[in-house]
Amino acid sequence: MSTLRSKWESPSNIALVKYWGKQPEGVQLPANASISFTLSESKTITAIDVSPAEQREVKIWLDGDLKPDFLPKIETFFDRIAEQFPWLDTSLIHIDTKNTFPYGTGIASSASSMSALALCICDIAVQRHELQESEMMSKASEIARLGSGSACRSIYAPLAEWGRHYDFEGSSDDFATPFIDVSPLFKDFCDTILLVDSGQKEVSSTIGHALIENHPFGEKRFELATVNMSKIKSALENGDLDSFMKVVESEALMLHALMMTSDPYFILMKANTLAIIEKIWAERGKNKRKWCFTLDAGANVHFLYPAEDEQIAKSFVDKELKQYCQNGLYICDRIGSGPNKLI
Ligand code: PMV
Repeated sequence: MSTLRSKWESPSNIALVKYWGKQPEGVQLPANASISFTLSESKTITAIDVSPAEQREVKIWLDGDLKPDFLPKIETFFDRIAEQFPWLDTSLIHIDTKNTFPYGTGIASSASSMSALALCICDIAVQRHELQESEMMSKASEIARLGSGSACRSIYAPLAEWGRHYDFEGSSDDFATPFIDVSPLFKDFCDTILLVDSGQKEVSSTIGHALIENHPFGEKRFELATVNMSKIKSALENGDLDSFMKVVESEALMLHALMMTSDPYFILMKANTLAIIEKIWAERGKNKRKWCFTLDAGANVHFLYPAEDEQIAKSFVDKELKQYCQNGLYICDRIGSGPNKLI
């Protein structure tokens, strides 16, 4: 077989109910269900070329620069999926990738990059007539999960759910499913990502998830996440902004509370993270705004607000929040429409 090619762009996502902790058995199975907004602007664009070879050989470029230091993560991913795609073990695989957001801004690229790579691999499997086109997205979500858990949710928009949950029909621990039955209010929600700290992640997700296994509050956390999934589902369906804000902020703070109470413990928020949260809360109290925040496993703040408030929220960012961002940097993002095939 000659060289096969594929190119996809795939977005990042921001969890509303967080995945933090894996099941003790299996590979990358979540301890609780999670749900996220799929973003529009923060994306990875990946092209792959696959040609026959004696054994697997992988080369990866980021922004045109060869990146041998990315190989261990990619090889682990390929080891995990090689049983399903045996041709990977007899191929020369060239991966050419870039992100739309600046590298080193503290934005995790694993969800967008692993979902883009998973889509390229599945696309090649379709070209080889080993995978039905109709099964491609679900398979891409399943294997993206094996690269980085949260990546499985980036396959679907406007929202995606991952993990078995009694209120979400068809939900699975193996792959994400789209969540589309939401109030129109949430279909174009905005997310301004305030870049507080561009440092390297202090705790890798792998270590973070592992710390939940024997965490004193682990079981309670999984129970609360399950309840929060039901609450957010009805808030999203009914356009109930007050309940939405309450669940989303509580989830963000619980994620950080878990990190602060693990062994070893971490504080990933910075003083400016808190300063931004206080400003959002003050503005909300003063002008009755339906604005809220969420956090990832880091110091950056995702400032969430309805599209109808876009102008006023953006001038609030410039006047009140930008000063707390490193080098004044922030990214204006919003809910997007999911991945796209480019070649
Ligand atoms: O996909 P991972 O293993 O990098 O974990 C992501 C964890 C959080 O971003 C903190 C939460 C989530 O659900 O995305």
